Amino acid sequence: MKQEIEKLKQEFKSELATASETAAVEAVRVKYLGRKAAVNGLFMRMAGLPHEEKAACGRALNQLKQFFAGEIEAKTQAFCGGEEKIDLTFPGELAPGGSRHVLSAVIEAVCDIFEKIGFTVAWGDEVEDEWHNFAALNFPVDHPSRDDFDTFYLDLPPASKRSGKYLLRCHTSPSQPRIMKEHKPPLAVISPGRVYRPDQVDATHSFMFSQIEGFAVARDIDFAHLKGTLLHFARSFFSPDVKMRLRPHFFPFTEPSAEADISCFMCKGKKQADENPRSPGGGVKTPRGKCSVCKDKGWIEVLGCGMIHPNVLEACGIDSKEYQGFAFGMGVERIAMLKYGVNDIRLFYENDKRFLEQF
Ligand code: PHE
Repeated sequence: MKQEIEKLKQEFKSELATASETAAVEAVRVKYLGRKAAVNGLFMRMAGLPHEEKAACGRALNQLKQFFAGEIEAKTQAFCGGEEKIDLTFPGELAPGGSRHVLSAVIEAVCDIFEKIGFTVAWGDEVEDEWHNFAALNFPVDHPSRDDFDTFYLDLPPASKRSGKYLLRCHTSPSQPRIMKEHKPPLAVISPGRVYRPDQVDATHSFMFSQIEGFAVARDIDFAHLKGTLLHFARSFFSPDVKMRLRPHFFPFTEPSAEADISCFMCKGKKQADENPRSPGGGVKTPRGKCSVCKDKGWIEVLGCGMIHPNVLEACGIDSKEYQGFAFGMGVERIAMLKYGVNDIRLFYENDKRFLEQF
């Protein structure tokens, strides 16, 4: 009997040693501790032993079973990385998935809208020179925004006298001369990217933000093309029923220039209608709080635009008698804040997952 016990122990050891996965260990357990285990046969045979041997044999068999159980347990734990056992019936934990940043998603959505109507996407460089950022865009030499306070100048030797100092572009408009110098009209380009201004950071300002520039140059382009293009954008991006109005404005690189407002897609300008009985839907004064998007103005400013100034076309070697163009520029954070009701620009840069997950 002693020999058989020893033999069984050795067999068990070598089989357990070759078990290289949980299922194999389980098979060893069934074989050596299950109902049909050889050790059970030995227990049966113990009954026929002389009384003096019975007790010693019983002890040896029990020790053998404990040995099997202990070895199997140790091996199982080693597979599970120590303490914990794997409970396969337990619901799995989802690995936290990443998602696209809301600003990237907005840029993509806007580019998509313009690509569908024939615009080509071109990202510009964030490091620019004075010529592309200012001079080519018809900024006079003494324009206040050339001042150190409104532009981050870089401490680098200028590439040439004409190009002037290197700087972090303060708008995406340098994409216009960059592309117009290299490519012949007709052109229709949408150019997103980061821009930098030494602004004090608060709920609506940041020293770095994103803009999307758009422009088209061809023969016989007029203001109606600009307005139609922008209205198409606003209806695709915000809501199909928005109205648009253009207010005269000034930019050195466009003439005439305008700022574009859209009718509030949130309150649909109802407050205004309430106060003007003759306007459609007006006449009923309903008490309600201020509209969070337009503050009851009914209109929201979304972008700057205009017809490209002839000086800009000429600076890029395009004959302004033959070609005209329109251009527009919008703030990505601004339209994202409007569309999703975000009230603090800083949320876009803090990368708090609880904020980012919502989009
Ligand atoms: N570059 C202007 C700005 O940063 C926006 C703009 C672009 C205006 C193109 C008109 C035409 O405010």
